[in-house]
Amino acid sequence: MSSKPFYVTTPIYYVNDKPHIGHAYSTVAADVLARYARLRGRPTRFLTGTDEHGQKIQEKAAELGEDPQTFVDRMAPPFKEVAEQMDCSFDDTIRTTEPRHMEKVKELWKILEAKGDIYLGEYEGWYSVSDEAFITDTEYEELDEVTKSKVKRLSEPSYFFKLSEFTDRLLEFYEKHPTFVQPEGRFNEVKAFVKGGLRDLSVSRTSFDWGVPVPGADGHVMFVWVDALTNYISALGGPAKEGEAALFDEFWGADAQQVHIVGKDILRFHAIYWPAFLLSAGIEPPTQVWAHGWLTINGQKMSKRFGNFIPPKPLVDAFGVDVVRYYLMREVGFGQDGDFAHKHVLARYNGELANGLGNLLNRMVTSIVRKQLEGKVPEPGEPTEQEKALLATAERVAKEAAAFLDNVQPHRALEKMWELVGETNRYVDQTAPWALAKEGKMEELGRVAYTVLESLRWLSVMIAPFMPTKAAGIREQLGLEPIEPTVGTDLWPNAWGELKPGTETAPGDPLFPRVHPKEQAKLFAGFGLGPDGEPAPDPEADAPKAKKAKKKKKKSEPLPEGCIAFDQFLAVELKVGLIQSAEPVDGSDKLLKLAIDLGEDSPRQVLAGIRKHYEPDALVGKRVVVVANLAPRKIFGLESQGMVLAASTDDAFSVLTVEAEITPGTRVS
Ligand code: MSP
Repeated sequence: MSSKPFYVTTPIYYVNDKPHIGHAYSTVAADVLARYARLRGRPTRFLTGTDEHGQKIQEKAAELGEDPQTFVDRMAPPFKEVAEQMDCSFDDTIRTTEPRHMEKVKELWKILEAKGDIYLGEYEGWYSVSDEAFITDTEYEELDEVTKSKVKRLSEPSYFFKLSEFTDRLLEFYEKHPTFVQPEGRFNEVKAFVKGGLRDLSVSRTSFDWGVPVPGADGHVMFVWVDALTNYISALGGPAKEGEAALFDEFWGADAQQVHIVGKDILRFHAIYWPAFLLSAGIEPPTQVWAHGWLTINGQKMSKRFGNFIPPKPLVDAFGVDVVRYYLMREVGFGQDGDFAHKHVLARYNGELANGLGNLLNRMVTSIVRKQLEGKVPEPGEPTEQEKALLATAERVAKEAAAFLDNVQPHRALEKMWELVGETNRYVDQTAPWALAKEGKMEELGRVAYTVLESLRWLSVMIAPFMPTKAAGIREQLGLEPIEPTVGTDLWPNAWGELKPGTETAPGDPLFPRVHPKEQAKLFAGFGLGPDGEPAPDPEADAPKAKKAKKKKKKSEPLPEGCIAFDQFLAVELKVGLIQSAEPVDGSDKLLKLAIDLGEDSPRQVLAGIRKHYEPDALVGKRVVVVANLAPRKIFGLESQGMVLAASTDDAFSVLTVEAEITPGTRVS
């Protein structure tokens, strides 16, 4: 782990359209890295912003009859709002129309010119306005007809940057910095491209004027990428000589590490043009450019044309910001493409957050510590082999998760942390604290509770870069202050046992209340989706199909006698339940009252006619099969909220048990 200053940036977003979940993805990834670096005590700076010049924006403004400045002033704020909605802890946002930026771009230009790397010529070739990129004849030929019609043939006077002279210098730089571009595969593509030889780059335009004016050349504005890339240093006050700009010295100095998070589509600009400009100017290129993949929506490219443009706000409103952050970072391998689907957000929420982490917290703080330990952190006691094993897992997980975060693999880091969640839940199942309480084994109970609380404390630190609010929520329930990163202090967990016995815990509402099947349909309907989260069928488009289906149904074969349809079987919700307590029901010689964990916020009360066959204590800790959606009914004045399956003959009786340590609440099918 390094203690060097850390500078992380997002791409600056074009303001020609509204922000969507793809933009939020880049920003959240950068935020996780920034929060992680601060947690490790590193001086950290996180920059995001908007790219507001160029032909694309000028044309869009003209289309709407607005002048470009009014247009960008209206379009830029929503990008900052999205970064705020996603709880991103940026230190600065830059707009390329700000004077502080434009002045620095001109300064950089003058340096490149003074180095003799800029000359005046004539550009003759193709330009893609939508990508703001010059394209070769071969690239043009490979385009589809629709895109071709949008590409313009240019012939105009232009300044050129002598990129062709940087081929060898770039290759040498890549050689010396083998992790300059990540993932490695993409770096190989960049190297191959450069090895193919570079052509000089047209860096000014005369056919429109919405850009940074070229110093001393009337009628020329800079190519938007020269302008845009410079944001990474202009926001620090660079280019600047040593001592002129403190931020530039600190975060672009030889000691610092800079990471640009970008989408794979804009890698070429960042991995070739940007280091070439900087090498020309005598400024060290950034440490790393990290190219992430693209998010598709239910398998489709996100686009207004497909009507699948996903703005982040409604997702945040429905699921909560930390859940969306968690999902984005967990679902997609960083560097790979990935698919976004609302039903996947819910699946991860219910599975990993509600059943996994949330359940662990509820079981221990709300249930055991509050009810059995007066709400206080107990004494840790002498660890047995079981506690030592869990501690070893925590130490391994913390080390591996940190290494994954150091290498910008947030999804792998989360995967690791959830190994600890799983192991701790298993430890609770195995040690059965509710049974220890019942047997009055308070010392053992204290040891188990302490171990789980400590594991939760470690998790509250490790998840903080991903879910800052939930991390603080866990800490609050554990009776701890929120994490306050300080430069020079590494807060990553490494010492077991820092939780102080006697600390008052603060059991609260579940942090991740489960979304029950009944609520799911409502949640999905809010996004215009069907009850299972699939895109709702378009009634118009599917009308003939629906008719057909109706007809088909009429004709369909009757079920063989005594059989039920598969749908009817699925209507019965069978789930794995973990028996937490069992006691006789007063006045009945048949009934036992069971508390069964079904992975929900609190255990279910189930009455079962099994008293004659089981000692209550022998049932505690057993995993049984429960009918979970049976209407509740009253027996002996007590509500029974489910049914435990059992089999019996005249001389044998058994409840149905589950052999493996399947998580409570898992559906049986
Ligand atoms: N303005 C340039 C960047 C200049 S950086 C000096 C630009 N802007 S953009 O708004 O078009 O894209 C910004 C970022 O959003 C890119 O990194 C792009 O990859 C990312 N995404 C846009 N759509 C995306 C998805 N569907 N999925 C993931 N990221 C995507 O390019």
